[in-house]
Amino acid sequence: MTHSFEQKLNLAATQVEDALEGLLSPQARPGETRRPARLLAAMRHAALGGGKRLRPFLTLETAGLFGVAPEAAMRAACAIELIHCYSLVHDDLPAMDDDDLRRGRPTVHKAYDEATAILAGDSLLTYAFDVLADPATHDDAALRCQLVRHLALAAGLGGMAGGQALDLEAERSDKPLTFDEVLEMQAMKTGALLQHAVEAGALLGKASPAQFKRLSRFGALIGGAFQIADDLLDAKSDAATLGKRAGKDAARNKATLVSILGVDAAEQRCDSLIDEAVGALQGLEFGSRTDVLIDAARFVAGRTS
Ligand code: IPE
Ligand code: IPE
Ligand code: MG
Ligand code: MG
Ligand code: MG
Repeated sequence: MTHSFEQKLNLAATQVEDALEGLLSPQARPGETRRPARLLAAMRHAALGGGKRLRPFLTLETAGLFGVAPEAAMRAACAIELIHCYSLVHDDLPAMDDDDLRRGRPTVHKAYDEATAILAGDSLLTYAFDVLADPATHDDAALRCQLVRHLALAAGLGGMAGGQALDLEAERSDKPLTFDEVLEMQAMKTGALLQHAVEAGALLGKASPAQFKRLSRFGALIGGAFQIADDLLDAKSDAATLGKRAGKDAARNKATLVSILGVDAAEQRCDSLIDEAVGALQGLEFGSRTDVLIDAARFVAGRTS
């Protein structure tokens, strides 16, 4: 039986949910003293029961091209989702985007409190690196170290966190960002982690430099398209469909390609990035096995939430 892309994504999402559930159990692990109940509950609120799980899906499918052991790919995928969930918790804080709705539920600082949300983010972030560095992820310590470093680069100062800083700086400045500055900010705040999701699969698969380069380019291009699609949904959709508030970017003076180019040109740019991403996969020797990545790229531009 062939499954539609949505069915495949949903199946992976269920498996990711199960793996995250295991990681976020109340039981302290060796080396931990105990897991404070309220903090753990806030982390579970942030990480369980929602989300498209696109980043882990990309890791699992890219790793699958190389025949990587599914347990190793799942742990790397979970590490990325833990980072993503932390980034959402902090992104929603009053000091950042000040949002009260996420994945159809109250944001973590609304359901708990700000200090707990900050600490839940801190703990999800830290846990991601624990998961990756754990020998259970892979026998090869050098590979684990490589995964840790790549994820740190994608998530930190010169990646997601740095991009979030540029996003907030732009919101608070009266000088609008140029087109190129928006591209750079978006590549950092959103693109880097999506790119890493693909690269992690390639690292686990010991991809050749040529394979890595193509997959990395694919990840960067869908990462760029992903934030444009998010900004388009903010402009065009509604909270009931998105599970988060819409219309907030214009209200908060966010620098987006929708604000610079308008909806139509932003849509065109998103579509052409996806075409380029699909092109980047041409020449890889996996034949029709990359079709699922092509579908994932199309999903990025066509999604409704
Ligand atoms: C939302 O990411 C935040 C951005 C980086 C634009 P997703 O749209 O992947 O959010 P979930 O995980 O599905 O909730
Ligand atoms: C968030 O971008 C990017 C992150 C790194 C979390 P947005 O601020 O546009 O994400 P949403 O719209 O709140 O999900
Ligand atoms: Mg934001
Ligand atoms: Mg936000
Ligand atoms: Mg948004």
